[in-house]
Amino acid sequence: MALPRLPSVYNLIALDSVGSTNDEARRLAGEGEETAPDGTLVWALEQTAGRGRRGRTWTSPAGNLYTSLILRPDVPTKDAAQLSFVAAVALYDALGNVSEPGHQIHLKWPNDILLQDCKVAGLLLESESGGGDYPDWVIVGMGLNVASHPEDTEFPATSLHAENWTTGVEEALQAYARSFLGWANTWVEEGFVPIRRTWLQRCKGLGEAIEVRLESDTLRGIFKDMDDDGALILDQDGDLTRIAAGDVYFPNT
Ligand code: BTN
Repeated sequence: MALPRLPSVYNLIALDSVGSTNDEARRLAGEGEETAPDGTLVWALEQTAGRGRRGRTWTSPAGNLYTSLILRPDVPTKDAAQLSFVAAVALYDALGNVSEPGHQIHLKWPNDILLQDCKVAGLLLESESGGGDYPDWVIVGMGLNVASHPEDTEFPATSLHAENWTTGVEEALQAYARSFLGWANTWVEEGFVPIRRTWLQRCKGLGEAIEVRLESDTLRGIFKDMDDDGALILDQDGDLTRIAAGDVYFPNT
């Protein structure tokens, strides 16, 4: 395995194969700060039990990028959830840095990255706070379709190679790790304001008609905003609904 060159703040744990990098990161984080200090980055070439949001499977053959970053931020658990938006804007920049010209990259609420309007990456944030208001650890899981993508998803998927990019897994990991570091520093120094502003500039569908599929309901309206807690604000004929979790679809594209 060719090891990527990462900034020295990262403690890279590179694995050939694992069930889920998030599960491995949870296990390591639970062993404490000595085993898994802030910045421990679990990377696997393939996963046999990759997990997506809302209990879904994340198909994880070799050739794609699977990482879980262990962080120990000194902020209340509710603010730590902002880290998934930090990761999203970082991945957007990382893809911009390795991109082939003429491609459209967008962010999709809450935690997806789109390439040519198809999902190319997803983020899965998990944390443990042991009953207190501050997290013991936060894990930022990230899956990027580099060489392949699933064909049978409800929202269409793509991969970098399907769009004729030549980017390799190591190159993508390096770009993401460097970019994440920069945006994490912005978040620590300036808070969520610049992250939210940047996320809103880069997202798809703001001000347009969207459909939000919830566990047992589908809401339609105009994507009005994302609030300070990362919730989506849906405008339904002037009634504003705050949505904390769901899947967004774009009926007009
Ligand atoms: C989603 O869009 O549903 C989130 C997908 C997150 C997948 C990544 S792959 C690396 C890490 N390990 C996992 O089991 N899941 C995340």
